[in-house]
Amino acid sequence: MNKSIYIILSLSFVTSCTMKTGNEKIKIIEGKNIITDSGMVVSAHPQSSRIGALILQKGGNAVDAAVATGFALAVCYPEAGNIGGGGFMLIRTNDGKSVVIDYREKAPGNASRDMYLDKSGNVSDGMSTDTYLASGVPGSVAGMITAHSKYGKLPFKEVIQPAIDLAEKGFAVTKKQADDLNVNKLSFIERNTFRPAFVKDSLWKDGDTLVQNDLAETLKRIRDYGREGFYSGRTAGLLIGAMKKGNGIVSEQDLKEYKAVLRLPLTADYKGYHIITVPPPSSGGVTLIQLLKMTEPYPLSHWGFLSVQAIHLITEAERRAFADRSQYLGDPDFIKIPVDQLLSTNYLSERMRTFDEKKASSSQEIRPGFPEGYTSEQTTHYSVVDAQGNAVSTTTTLNNTFGNSIVVDSAGFLLNNEMDDFSVKPGVPNMYGLVGGEANSVKPGKRMLSSMTPAILEKDGKLLLVLGTPGGSTIPTTVFQVIINVLDYNMNIEQAVDAGRFHHQWLPDWISYEKNAIDSLTLSELEDMGHILKERASIGSINAILILPGGKKAGGADKRGNNSSCGY
Ligand code: GLY
Repeated sequence: MNKSIYIILSLSFVTSCTMKTGNEKIKIIEGKNIITDSGMVVSAHPQSSRIGALILQKGGNAVDAAVATGFALAVCYPEAGNIGGGGFMLIRTNDGKSVVIDYREKAPGNASRDMYLDKSGNVSDGMSTDTYLASGVPGSVAGMITAHSKYGKLPFKEVIQPAIDLAEKGFAVTKKQADDLNVNKLSFIERNTFRPAFVKDSLWKDGDTLVQNDLAETLKRIRDYGREGFYSGRTAGLLIGAMKKGNGIVSEQDLKEYKAVLRLPLTADYKGYHIITVPPPSSGGVTLIQLLKMTEPYPLSHWGFLSVQAIHLITEAERRAFADRSQYLGDPDFIKIPVDQLLSTNYLSERMRTFDEKKASSSQEIRPGFPEGYTSEQTTHYSVVDAQGNAVSTTTTLNNTFGNSIVVDSAGFLLNNEMDDFSVKPGVPNMYGLVGGEANSVKPGKRMLSSMTPAILEKDGKLLLVLGTPGGSTIPTTVFQVIINVLDYNMNIEQAVDAGRFHHQWLPDWISYEKNAIDSLTLSELEDMGHILKERASIGSINAILILPGGKKAGGADKRGNNSSCGY
């Protein structure tokens, strides 16, 4: 590939680049909210969006671009992009077929139910988040290779090479990234016996170059040997060596046995639109569909955006959905999950029978329901649509920002701390305040319950919207709010993505809301109804693509991050 990419126009957040390929000159544009004719990638960093868009321009399809973007994010967005974590990729091909690639991490074979409890049976502080024991068996490399080998078009080497170049040559960190790296400096120093690339003597500044040579070498082994370049050979040796030194339990056997799984998506209809999303072991799809179905009978658009009635209704639906999550959801390979019952119209209208339009209910009273027949917050999302209308919606994570902050010595990648997504002790909240029970207890080889909610919407059988977000427990409620912003409140994609948000998750029993999202009169009316309200930092960071009438693509890169849309 000719690397002479140069900026030729910069106009209020919209930039145009030209890449020369042989004799032709092709142009891509990038910015927060752009409109393109052909393909588009929206991700958490301008570098990864650009790499994905250039792969589309080279003739790659949406899956090629998604895989290129995923590997690039592991380099330029180490906060959550990864090869040491896991995720879910939802693919919808232009013939209307869809599939989910589940590459969620798994508990190591030597994991056990009470591994995070001390002798008195209490949860050991930080063990499931800050140590080698916090890491599940990574799934990202298996997931991306599976996606590419089944659905990609370009040679794998071409798709992964831009990430290798980016790691070797380095990239300019953004102001926000410099802050993230500086805040995490002590954890990087304390939890590693060597100095990872993320630490330097002085503080990071906007525009400083981050070079990752060890990571580049690991990516080259993946380029040259495919899954063997990660799950066996030198990379596996380095990972297992680090585990042994750090008292972790991920074994050679765990790496060898890890497989990504193809699953059928969950689907539902909402007000004439068709929703496609992910099944367990993510809770996100079940929660999203429950929220849509529980709120569907009510006149949201008539009540108005962030009106007292709308916030109250959505909160009460969220309270019920998250109570169900705590009881029923986990890894479907280990437990029986009554998904059809949980999503049935009868069950959900029964769940809302106790909804009082005038008064908040209490989470003490709202217990998980009884479906018939049933005896970090850092994550990142990217959306891709190619010129042919194939779409990919991927959410991936290390769990916390920078995972457990432990870098595999000489391999340059960060480890996840996903084990904290298990219910390490029934009733004890995890880092997102989520409580769970037996359905999500730790078991060897089990996948921990996720909230990731990559989603795709169709109207009349045609692709309409591709979206997803990071945000831990707030993921499904954020995706839900952006969907209703588009469908019920008729917002354009920029308005829908940037609009203020709120969240309720059953326990703790309060509505958290973004600063200035809800006006003071609405807040006091909600308090009068019995709701507890707490202001919090921003919620989620959506990356979405809306297909406009006529087929153009509109990028919705959330104002809340360095998110960027790029396409042509
Ligand atoms: N680690 C966040 C999630 O999977 O929900």
